[in-house]
Amino acid sequence: MQAGGRVGSERKIVWLAIAICIAAFAVIALWSQQPVAVALAALGSATGLAIIWLLPHFARQVAARWRGLAAVLRFRKEPKFEALPVPLIRFASDGTVLAMNAAARDLAGNGPKTRMAHDMFEDLGRPVADWLRDVAEGRHPGGAEVLRLRNARETRHFVQITAQRFGEAEVMGVLQDATALKRLEAQFTQSQKMQAVGQLAGGIAHDFNNILTAITGHCDLLLLRHRPDDLDHEDLQQIQQNAYRAGALVKQLLAFSRKQTLVPERIDLTEVLGELAHLLNRLLGGAVHLDLNHAPVPIALRVDKGQFEQVIVNLAVNARDAMPTGGVLRIESEVMELTVAAERDRVRVPAGSYAVIRVVDSGTGIPADIMPQIFEPFFTTKRTGEGTGLGLATVYGIVKQSGGFIFVDSAHGEGTEFQLWFPLCTTPAEAAQKVVTRRRAATEGVVLLVEDEAPVRAFAARALRLRGLTVLESASGEQALEIAATDVKIDIFVTDVILPGLTGPEWVEQALQGRAGTPVVFISGYAADAPSEAQGRIPASVFLSKPFSLAELSETVGAQMPRPPTDQPEVLSVS
Ligand SMILES: Nc1ncnc2c1ncn2[C@@H]1O[C@H](COP(=O)(O)OP(=O)(O)OP(=O)(O)O)[C@@H](O)[C@H]1O
Ligand SMILES: [Mg+2]
Repeated sequence: MQAGGRVGSERKIVWLAIAICIAAFAVIALWSQQPVAVALAALGSATGLAIIWLLPHFARQVAARWRGLAAVLRFRKEPKFEALPVPLIRFASDGTVLAMNAAARDLAGNGPKTRMAHDMFEDLGRPVADWLRDVAEGRHPGGAEVLRLRNARETRHFVQITAQRFGEAEVMGVLQDATALKRLEAQFTQSQKMQAVGQLAGGIAHDFNNILTAITGHCDLLLLRHRPDDLDHEDLQQIQQNAYRAGALVKQLLAFSRKQTLVPERIDLTEVLGELAHLLNRLLGGAVHLDLNHAPVPIALRVDKGQFEQVIVNLAVNARDAMPTGGVLRIESEVMELTVAAERDRVRVPAGSYAVIRVVDSGTGIPADIMPQIFEPFFTTKRTGEGTGLGLATVYGIVKQSGGFIFVDSAHGEGTEFQLWFPLCTTPAEAAQKVVTRRRAATEGVVLLVEDEAPVRAFAARALRLRGLTVLESASGEQALEIAATDVKIDIFVTDVILPGLTGPEWVEQALQGRAGTPVVFISGYAADAPSEAQGRIPASVFLSKPFSLAELSETVGAQMPRPPTDQPEVLSVS
């Protein structure tokens, strides 16, 4: 305000002086009668006055520039500033980078000579220059902010700047590499997201499996009465097939949320991949050539065979989609010995023996910007109807649940390589001769059936009665215990795991105290329900996962039923 007033009064004085000059020269001109000489004199005087008026302004501006330049040179030459092991950066209030010491240049890189803060940093949420001006002029206390370096788009480099007002109108910032911190933050957010989706999927799956069991179950019952020559037979089959499809989708949801029930077994990798080759060739079509390269030694893994095949199929289908005009899909396997733990993509692979499976395609490759998202459920770059985005999420879930690791390398336009690492199975193979037996389905006996979902209970009871079994129904564990406490004959317990009040394993444990040796069939919606621990404690118990069909239920119950010693199992095959 004061400066403005001073400039205003200066201006008035100069105008007054010019007016006086012109008036004086006009009087002289009239008096001397020499207008040209007088006009030149007037012009000269006005120019002189204007120069006198403007000179201090020029001088002030030149001095300011010089002071700025001198400050920059002084700071650059200042040995202490330059050599300090802490990365330091100095900004003018308008965001001009005045100086950076050697440590700061190492961290942020050497850019063009004159730089502005907004050319170097971004992602503050407001213009960086505004923030610096506020700090420089004392309107903001400064403090730490994490910003992204602009020249590092590919590598996503982040720095933390702790800014503080420095001198009259400058900002001094201390830099710190925040890339690892940001990456951890992103991983944490991602894992929380996956956990939330997993919980959601688990919740849906539980209810959904109950509904699907009731639908498929009642459909099975109807199909028993409507033979193929019946008009309704085909419609019923449609309902059943679609219910199975829905069941498969729930299974996929459970797979990526790692809540599905896996049945790990010892498999020979070469054998499984060999068996799969036929299916893969069909899936890949004529344009894509499949090249299988096995390790020369047998490789034993302990995984769920069906799920492992699903992993390879999903990767192969993705590879095929990435090679629309054809190409080569290479699937290689080898044994890798890690003598020390290895780290990759922030994942630590412990030392040990691994089977490494490489699925390599010569397709479009994966652009770097979508790479962090490819394992996310529902992430797809395919058109609606062509991809659900569950493929890789499922692969990831299965690999993780099986104790393995997955890595991906891809260059845009040059193809993609997925690497699967599974720990080698060290337990020896089961006895060579395996006798496969099947017990004849029991046709009499008493079942105590405990299921809180009325439609599932209704179907299960009818299915078991159709087999000739007597069924005692109960909607809760407490009610089941009351029945078990009576002296009624019970040959087998069939119970849901999750029940209101006492859970399946809880009531069964109590009931077994009075009825030792009674066989148990636990039925449940997903792996989190699987009573693996309790099942370990409860002898003669098996697990049946929902949704199950009429045949699966009666076979499982029939096989668990106690039988008289004369009833020998039927030998199906000896291998
Ligand atoms: N081998 C590959 N080459 C190029 N891009 C790939 C490859 N594998 C996966 N991707 C990319 O990752 C995305 C996610 O793959 P994902 O298998 O999870 O879903 P999808 O294939 O799109 O759908 P879905 O598998 O459910 O049918 C794909 O849309 C694609 O952009
Ligand atoms: Mg896919």
